[in-house]
Amino acid sequence: MLTMDKLVALCRNRGIIFAGSELYGGLANTWDYGPVGVELKNNVKRLWWNRFVQSQPLVVGLDSSILLNPQVWEASGHVGGFSDPLIDCRQCKNRFRADNLIEDYCAEKGISRDVAGLSNEGLRELIDKENIPCPSCGGHNFTSIRKFNLMFQTHQGVTDENTTPIYLRPETAQGIFLNFRTISRSARVSPPFGVGQIGKSFRNEITPGNFIFRTREFEQMELEFFTPPAEANTWYQYWCEECMSFLLDLGVKKDNLRMRAHTPEELSHYSVATSDIEYLFPFGWGEIWGIANRTDYDLKAHMEYSGKDLFAADPVTNEKYIPYVVEPSVGVERLLLMFLADAYDEEELEDGSTRVLLRLHPLLAPVKIGILPLSKKLTSQAEEIRRRLAPLYNVELDDRGSIGKRYRRFDEIGTPYCLTVDFQTEEDGCVTIRDRDTMEQIRLPLDELESYFAEKFRI
Ligand code: GAP
Repeated sequence: MLTMDKLVALCRNRGIIFAGSELYGGLANTWDYGPVGVELKNNVKRLWWNRFVQSQPLVVGLDSSILLNPQVWEASGHVGGFSDPLIDCRQCKNRFRADNLIEDYCAEKGISRDVAGLSNEGLRELIDKENIPCPSCGGHNFTSIRKFNLMFQTHQGVTDENTTPIYLRPETAQGIFLNFRTISRSARVSPPFGVGQIGKSFRNEITPGNFIFRTREFEQMELEFFTPPAEANTWYQYWCEECMSFLLDLGVKKDNLRMRAHTPEELSHYSVATSDIEYLFPFGWGEIWGIANRTDYDLKAHMEYSGKDLFAADPVTNEKYIPYVVEPSVGVERLLLMFLADAYDEEELEDGSTRVLLRLHPLLAPVKIGILPLSKKLTSQAEEIRRRLAPLYNVELDDRGSIGKRYRRFDEIGTPYCLTVDFQTEEDGCVTIRDRDTMEQIRLPLDELESYFAEKFRI
């Protein structure tokens, strides 16, 4: 059975994900993606881009900057509203998110309590009423609850106490709203149309954790779909379905996925409808993807604060209106964690040993083909094959250790095909192709390699 510990160990041992700044004793909750992990991450981003930008007739792309004019965050509501309720234990000095403190305690005791939408005072009352202890020291001596803004603050240029702070963006979405007018004009598009973007976001999370599930630095893949208000609900349904199909098409098990609509208390300040796609991780259900109907909240706010016209015009009546926005937003690392967890498998073999493998979809696999010369004497022949396939796929030649151990290593990083060069290859011009999932082997003529793999890795 999969546990988070097993997954973390596999990622570390196989060059997928390492703890950040390890040489200096680490920096909590930062992660580096190793030679295998970066390929997986790039594949996740490439596949999202292909599905949500390139293949969509009404969507274009953008790469906007991380640092934005600070007024943007005033207008968006992040300066005033993007915060978590914090509470301190006076006894042991540990700090907690008040809502999480209540949720964790109630889950442990099997009590049902809804904390969504509660004010700071409401949360504090509930802590007292349930007599919730500090999870670290067991004491009952808490401070009052304070709001803690999640945005990372910095200064531009020469640091001076009087300079206005600027923020690392907590979402990529705002960069898209700022470019609504320029994109609409330059790309000659009017609603309904969407803008997709992949980029880093930063949040000073109080409770990061669960490996790469919640971190302070992460990447988002966001699509802001601008639509006439009357069409917003139809597009909301469309994107909910499209996001779910994307996951199912990449082989994620249906039973591990669910779509959960937010209750009115849970909705963000900008949303009238939000659904989360959740995945059943070893630590429980967790949000992967949020699909929200953000209404005209953002464009309206930016119009007010900037004084610029962000209207669209109805093509028939020429009447002006502020478009609604439907937003599917997903984190790259969360998606990657889900793909890893879902693909992890342990299989008992006939000889009693256990094979660990990642049954990743071939399009996600970080190394597509492992090239294995049976003996070091065959390495130059294998190298010739590597040179042929490397411009097309991320392939890896491995000529060290027993063939069995090499197969296991490729299984553990989810390589769907291993190609073995043996002593017969020179005579019959064929290699052996081994399938990761079935372990079945076939002989394939060398001149058919490109067409064989083109079929296997077709999008
Ligand atoms: N623009 C809307 C927005 O940012 P969100 O629900 O706060 O909405 C969207 O974030 C997605 O970004 C989440 O569903 C999750 O996949 C990812 N995400 C958010 N915070 C994260 C964090 N601290 N670490 C990793 N991923 C995160």
